[in-house]
Amino acid sequence: MESGHRMIQWVEIDRKAFLNNVGEFKKRLGRTALMAVIKANAYGHGLLPMARLAQEAGLGWLGVNNLEEGLVLRQAGFNQKILILGYTGLDQAKEVVQADLRSVVYNLESIRALARAARCLRKKAIVHLKIETGTNRQGIPGKKLGEIVRELKKLPEIEVEGVSSHFANIEDTTDDFYPKRQLANFLEAVNFLEKNGLVIPIKHLACSAAAILFPETYFDLARVGLGLYGLWSSRETLISCQQRGQEPLKLKPVLSWRTRVAQVKPVSSGSYVGYGCTYRTTRASKLAVIPVGYYDGYDRSLSNTAYVLIKGHRAQIRGRICMDFIMADVTDIPGVKLEDRVTLLGSDGQEKITAEQLASLAGTINYEIITRINPLVPRVIV
Ligand SMILES: Cc1ncc(COP(=O)(O)O)c(C=O)c1O
Repeated sequence: MESGHRMIQWVEIDRKAFLNNVGEFKKRLGRTALMAVIKANAYGHGLLPMARLAQEAGLGWLGVNNLEEGLVLRQAGFNQKILILGYTGLDQAKEVVQADLRSVVYNLESIRALARAARCLRKKAIVHLKIETGTNRQGIPGKKLGEIVRELKKLPEIEVEGVSSHFANIEDTTDDFYPKRQLANFLEAVNFLEKNGLVIPIKHLACSAAAILFPETYFDLARVGLGLYGLWSSRETLISCQQRGQEPLKLKPVLSWRTRVAQVKPVSSGSYVGYGCTYRTTRASKLAVIPVGYYDGYDRSLSNTAYVLIKGHRAQIRGRICMDFIMADVTDIPGVKLEDRVTLLGSDGQEKITAEQLASLAGTINYEIITRINPLVPRVIV
């Protein structure tokens, strides 16, 4: 973000860390192509900055959630292969084909809408069939595969480029029973499709955890999100990796979230802090007022629980997280002054706050901590 003034709040994107993570996955995947999953504003890292870094890293595939994200990328001039992983509305088919976006499909209505759009535009609609293998999210159930193939044979405007599925239980477990069952279901579906005359240039199944743990799921393309941002999908993924005697990937977190002190405030012992007066000081204290709140994606459940970093020290959050503010205790941190840098997530000196720590305190997962950072907060590549 370029602006004449300094930012009050920003997200730093560590370019070297991202390129390192791409290298780690490329090494693991060998000949399998790597898709950077940059849906959900690139897991909070910023859609355009991460598309730029993916391009720099030479990644030819980008995964987005919807048409809107795809269009933002096309309008910014990105010409990689872009696959819409989420749902595409029937009335969006024309825009999808026009912008050369690929979409996953799992019902006849979408396939027909794309065929109509393609006919109208005199182009092909490129699709990836999504197979239901046990996640029971998007996907074509086994029983419907025959119907889909018959329909595809009638629609020359549709080019089936890929067949995919997604794992349900691969991250937070050391038990590989369910992914194995899903892999078997996937292979069965692929076999059925091929026997019925469908040529499948690209098969893809693996997400970060699968790309780390299960070479048998690699096929032609791996869709990797969290790992490229330098985070582990779960502690169990790391443990499974160690149990299998595999060298853990050397992943480096890409994102840091920072702001500046908006006010330094001495308060007397017995003062209440914030909405609901949920905290009361037990000594004369110094508070730092921090201009970030739950609107920005800093979870309200972190009230009175988490800490931020100022001058390389931990400053405990006092009182409730407000919509746009947090108060933190800097009584024991010497010399804190207006506009000192505050780290909400990331490192400062010897101290660091990880997405996993915040997730554990907030009762959620690292994915949610990072994706929830308000897209309006500027993202800066450093
Ligand atoms: C369909 C699909 N593929 C791939 C991914 C990437 O998963 P991960 O971030 O665990 O690599 C996701 C993320 O949720 C997804 O929904």
